[in-house]
Amino acid sequence: MAFAVIGATGRVGSLVVKHLLGFHEAVRVLVRDPGKAHRLFDAVGGDLDVRAVPLDDRSAIDAALEGVRVAFIAMGSVGLEGNLQRLIVDAAARSPSLEQVVRLSVLNSGPSSLGLNQQGHWSIDFAAEALGLPYTTIRPSVFSASVLAAAAEIRSERTWTGLADTGRVALCDHRDVAEVAVRILRDSTTWGTHYDLTGPRLVSWPDVAALISVELGASVEFRVIPDRTLVYRMIDAGVPPSKAELLVTREWAILRGENEHTTETISELLGRPPRTVEKFLRDYIDYFR
Ligand SMILES: NC(=O)c1ccc[n+]([C@@H]2O[C@H](COP(=O)([O-])OP(=O)(O)OC[C@H]3O[C@@H](n4cnc5c(N)ncnc54)[C@H](OP(=O)(O)O)[C@@H]3O)[C@@H](O)[C@H]2O)c1
Repeated sequence: MAFAVIGATGRVGSLVVKHLLGFHEAVRVLVRDPGKAHRLFDAVGGDLDVRAVPLDDRSAIDAALEGVRVAFIAMGSVGLEGNLQRLIVDAAARSPSLEQVVRLSVLNSGPSSLGLNQQGHWSIDFAAEALGLPYTTIRPSVFSASVLAAAAEIRSERTWTGLADTGRVALCDHRDVAEVAVRILRDSTTWGTHYDLTGPRLVSWPDVAALISVELGASVEFRVIPDRTLVYRMIDAGVPPSKAELLVTREWAILRGENEHTTETISELLGRPPRTVEKFLRDYIDYFR
């Protein structure tokens, strides 16, 4: 078995599985909901092994990694998901067959970022290094797809409520991230490095609201509310508290200008420029109508 994907039913993980199958690679997915995996991947066909694996069960992870050469992990970094990632990293470091773990992290990961996501990913890398795990990270900037979280509000009220009315990010398209992951997973000469990925240009949330307005032909206003009000608003809407905190600290990091740079990594690895935020909005505009 060449590849295992953990977080295989998520936004990036599912695209990675589809691309690997498209390259006729053998893929094992470690999932909590096999039905979801079959719905996502059965139509693609190919050499797919769906395993229901409780990620808090050490012997189940060991068994699922048996014979796997390269693993990809695309899960969250805080709360339960962060802890499960640490358990997977621990199991991977014990695996006799694994040659490389490629982990989806985040741009600017480190202990001094204001972002909880950046701190969480840094602490998982800390564990990976301490365990001597052979690994690579892919560290994208905020995904263009993050804007979809505001889609329902934009549809109904033509407003977008957040915090960061200043500060810019070179938004990254998750489809590029998946393509980069597949490029790295299949090419051992790229292993052992940290790859910082960004989109082509820096934009603020109000800039993105203006771009959505152009695509929609209707004005969308970016509206700022106090941090605490935003956290309660998200929790009332059903967002888990750890995710709400993560999202508010992401805004703090943006306001502080932590993400204000671009890299050429996507072009270097894929041989073409990254997708623009305009391209993402055109492809997903129906979510905002
Ligand atoms: N969003 C951004 O702007 C951004 C930017 C840069 C980096 N990142 C990083 O990207 C990663 C998230 O990628 P994504 O958007 O592809 O994630 P996602 O869509 O949220 O997918 C998460 C995956 O983890 C699985 N999962 C969650 N909890 C689980 C549990 N308790 N047991 C087993 N599986 C579990 C989910 O399974 P189910 O399908 O069953 O729920 C899903 O397959 C994070 O590490 C984040 O830091 C995100």
